[in-house]
Amino acid sequence: MSKKRVLVTGGAGYIGSHTTVELINAGYEVIVVDNFSNSDASSLEGVKKITGVAPTFVEVDCCDKEAMRRVFEDNSFDAVIHFAAYKAVGESVAQPAKYYRNNLLSFINVVELMKEYHCKNIVFSSSATVYGDAEELPVTERTPRKPATSPYGNTKQMSEDMLRDIVTVDDELRGIALRYFNPIGAHPSALIGELPRGVPNNLVPYITQTAAGIRECLSIFGDDYPTPDGSCLRDYIDIVDLARAHVVAINRMVEGRCEERYEIFNVGTGTPVSVFELVKGFEKANNLKLNYKVAARRPGDVTAVWADTTRANEVLGWRAERKLEDTLRAAWQWECYVRNREK
Ligand code: NAD
Ligand code: WQD
Repeated sequence: MSKKRVLVTGGAGYIGSHTTVELINAGYEVIVVDNFSNSDASSLEGVKKITGVAPTFVEVDCCDKEAMRRVFEDNSFDAVIHFAAYKAVGESVAQPAKYYRNNLLSFINVVELMKEYHCKNIVFSSSATVYGDAEELPVTERTPRKPATSPYGNTKQMSEDMLRDIVTVDDELRGIALRYFNPIGAHPSALIGELPRGVPNNLVPYITQTAAGIRECLSIFGDDYPTPDGSCLRDYIDIVDLARAHVVAINRMVEGRCEERYEIFNVGTGTPVSVFELVKGFEKANNLKLNYKVAARRPGDVTAVWADTTRANEVLGWRAERKLEDTLRAAWQWECYVRNREK
């Protein structure tokens, strides 16, 4: 029997490259498209080293509809996973049009081409950012979304809404939105991981770069939140667990097991972890001391958000498995690998 074929947009990126590995391991044929706006070919080389398979790669901007049409013309796909997007919240506030153009146009092109070429299944990368400062914790998929506080967050809400509206009137199409919480870590092989450009915004890359001596000191943004230790609470999901959630979602779609045309799942661990706990966990897992200080709160941060994972566990049949300690060890091994590679 021929392999099922999945188009992975943004597949050279952090989550896309890990998902490509898990898809290949699960027996799928993967075609990656990416414009390398926030990645490079090294991630695809890493995928090949890990799996022994080089995914087909086409360098293309998803906003270029004619170029994307050629990809659909040359291949037939059983499903698409749409990762391609810009993701820096602060940058989206400074350059909103850049974010609306890239994230919305790439999404619209992909769904329109899927319709044109009768591709039936799409998994969309959404985010816990859609919950904002949530009314209830943990958040379930039914917890009301809050008005977006950044253009980035707005592109996720708008794409979710577009997907819902499009699948509602299209008998052929099924959509799953996965709302990721805070993805962290790297593949245990340390051959692929997160490659932030410039000064990292996210906590774990900032920690690993501080441990590597690239950053002098980690600032912990606030110790006066109404939480047990005063720092913010988040749901840190291991990147390999997250990648596997995509495989489970794709299996569900290609096996025709979706219960509704449009489904949403939280992808998190269900466990809140504070910034202090994460820092201490990193020190313990890697047997090192981190230079950190408490600083002012970062504007826009919510106090706490973590997932109710019941639906993902019971309906999707997926749960997070990797231990935080192992995730933080993998994050450090990846940082060390990158530093050695750059020497
Ligand atoms: P990433 O930047 O590492 O990966 C995105 C990839 O898409 C990059 O390789 C980039 O070059 C590519 N890309 C961007 N615009 C493109 C375009 N127009 N055409 C072709 N390729 C394009 O980011 P990531 O962390 O892997 O995120 C993947 C998806 O998950 C994004 O949609 C992001 O918004 C979403 N997400 C990420 C997080 C997170 O914390 N990392 C959390 C929630 C949701
Ligand atoms: C985590 C915690 C910070 C850096 C972001 C996006 C969200 C989603 C995931 C895409 C917070 C604290 C951080 C530092 C710190 N992305 N922190 N010092 O803000 O929860 O979520 O990534 O969809 O949309 O907003 O993640 O890693 O930036 O922060 O103390 O140097 O670490 O205050 O409490 P965040 P993060």
